[in-house]
Amino acid sequence: MHLIEIEGLSKHFGDIEAVRGISFTVDRGEVVGFLGPNGAGKSTTMKMLAGFLTPSAGRASICGHDVVEDGLAARRRLGYLPEGAPAYPDMTAASFLAFIAQIRGFRGAEARAAVDRAVDRVDLGSVLEQPIDTLSKGFKRRVGLAQALLHDPEVLILDEPTDGLDPNQKHQVRQLIGSMAATKAIIISTHILEEVDAVCTRAMVIANGRVLVDGTPAALEARSPYHHAVYVRAEGKLPASVQDELGALPGVKRVEAAGRADDQGVYVLPQNGADIGPLVRGLLAARGVGVAELRVERGRLDGVFRDITMAA
Ligand SMILES: Nc1ncnc2c1ncn2[C@@H]1O[C@H](COP(=O)(O)OP(=O)(O)O)[C@@H](O)[C@H]1O
Ligand SMILES: [Mg+2]
Repeated sequence: MHLIEIEGLSKHFGDIEAVRGISFTVDRGEVVGFLGPNGAGKSTTMKMLAGFLTPSAGRASICGHDVVEDGLAARRRLGYLPEGAPAYPDMTAASFLAFIAQIRGFRGAEARAAVDRAVDRVDLGSVLEQPIDTLSKGFKRRVGLAQALLHDPEVLILDEPTDGLDPNQKHQVRQLIGSMAATKAIIISTHILEEVDAVCTRAMVIANGRVLVDGTPAALEARSPYHHAVYVRAEGKLPASVQDELGALPGVKRVEAAGRADDQGVYVLPQNGADIGPLVRGLLAARGVGVAELRVERGRLDGVFRDITMAA
């Protein structure tokens, strides 16, 4: 059984087709990144999985429980972080989490233990007695995360979990997700591409309510013109004649300047991701060019993302 199963899932709001027949499954150990421009249908898909919106067509299940027919059982196995801040702005973080623990069916010492564990995991201890409304965006986000994790569910649906966090907090939340990955099935939505590299085992590019690409982050990077490109920075200036020779090497598409004021390096771009590193090194050595820096690039997700979503 897949922990998450979606088949032909669709949602329209009047004339707006927000989600158009999405199908996929997610297994334990997977962290799936939903990537897509604003309005792609990411949040709508997540809301249907969490039981907050009824699908217009298709079906979805969590741990084998249909989210519509068997919604209570599905939601018991699922933690959901909605976009934005938690409801109940006047409650303190502590009372909000105690309230969620009650809703989740915990009582007494068990409830306190569940809250303590979640508070620990997202490092909320210092602001527990503050009303949620008075918290910074980062802490509000973490209250939401604690709420989603409280019952230690097998499936986590996190809508832009690092939105509004500073770089250190982002790092912390990514580590938290990584630490839970082995035992759960997790979907996160994000528009931060480096996040996909940092935490996702699988990336799904969504636009106009459809899944355009579903693969590993590495497979996505491999679509980039910079995949296996060789960055070269010579000691001093790279002679123009050598630059021309680099461009004429077999398997090389072109050579381009790094294009930053503080960067005198060049990129040697391969044809079809060819492994041109040895040839580039060989030529530089043969021409006696001193190399200050040389590295092989993995590819640039931002360009790949742009190409996929603009073509849709
Ligand atoms: N409650 C709603 N009523 C009408 N349109 C909606 C509603 N929620 C979302 N939409 C529309 O559905 C589309 C997908 O939205 P959403 O799922 O929020 O996208 P994303 O999370 O990828 O930015 C957008 O065009 C959005 O305006
Ligand atoms: Mg959204």
